[in-house]
Amino acid sequence: MEYFDLISKRQSIRKYKEEGIPRKDIEKILDAARIAPSGKNLQNWRFFVLDTKENINLLCQVIADKNEEISAKLEKDDEEAANRFRKFCKNFTLFIKNAPVVILTLGKDYLPSGYHEMKKSGASEEELNYLAYKPNPGMQNIGAAMEHMTLAATDLGYGSCWLTSANYAGEEIVNLIKEKTGFDEEGFFFTCLMSFGVPADVEHKSPKRKELEDICYFVD
Ligand SMILES: Cc1cc2nc3c(=O)[nH]c(=O)nc-3n(C[C@H](O)[C@H](O)[C@H](O)COP(=O)(O)O)c2cc1C
Repeated sequence: MEYFDLISKRQSIRKYKEEGIPRKDIEKILDAARIAPSGKNLQNWRFFVLDTKENINLLCQVIADKNEEISAKLEKDDEEAANRFRKFCKNFTLFIKNAPVVILTLGKDYLPSGYHEMKKSGASEEELNYLAYKPNPGMQNIGAAMEHMTLAATDLGYGSCWLTSANYAGEEIVNLIKEKTGFDEEGFFFTCLMSFGVPADVEHKSPKRKELEDICYFVD
């Protein structure tokens, strides 16, 4: 597929058919992420593939447990908000359970060029945090890898959806990963997950985009 056709075809797919994805195709998707660009070629990403119902259900349970922990505390002051949050989780986990494959992505901080020099020159904590976490190059790297994955999936005929709505259970998801795989590299935290599968035969709608003139400026 021509590159522009490919990026125009990609959309978030939230309903999938039952059929799974062969591991050779999952590997192609992961390989697309592997070759993504990253600041200082840091490759500060690690990917964990769940392609069994059992493991995807386990992930959903971890998210649901964390949601209940938060909702139970929230309920004391605001019952309505707690129930809304519970419902949000129920819908979200139902949607994840519907996916035959989920890839969990961990990332690591990346301190940008100039950080150590600014620190030595006496910059304040606020200035250093602004440099590291506003433009956040570490997360820009993750974004590049995720976009490579979703485009590779589209090219192979699969749908995908990039998701950060479970990030409140990030620590628990990392613990699950460690428990299941023995992963023990220091400094990695949960950044997002992506679901994959063959798109269901329903209409998949994407929201409208802003016009070019609303977001772009030629600086003359
Ligand atoms: C960083 C990121 C986080 C996202 N998180 C979620 C999410 O938690 N739940 C969800 O349903 N969609 C999520 N999406 C998908 C967006 O809603 C979607 O990309 C956007 O609405 C545009 O629609 P399209 O992807 O179909 O073009 C996320 C997308 C990105 C890039």
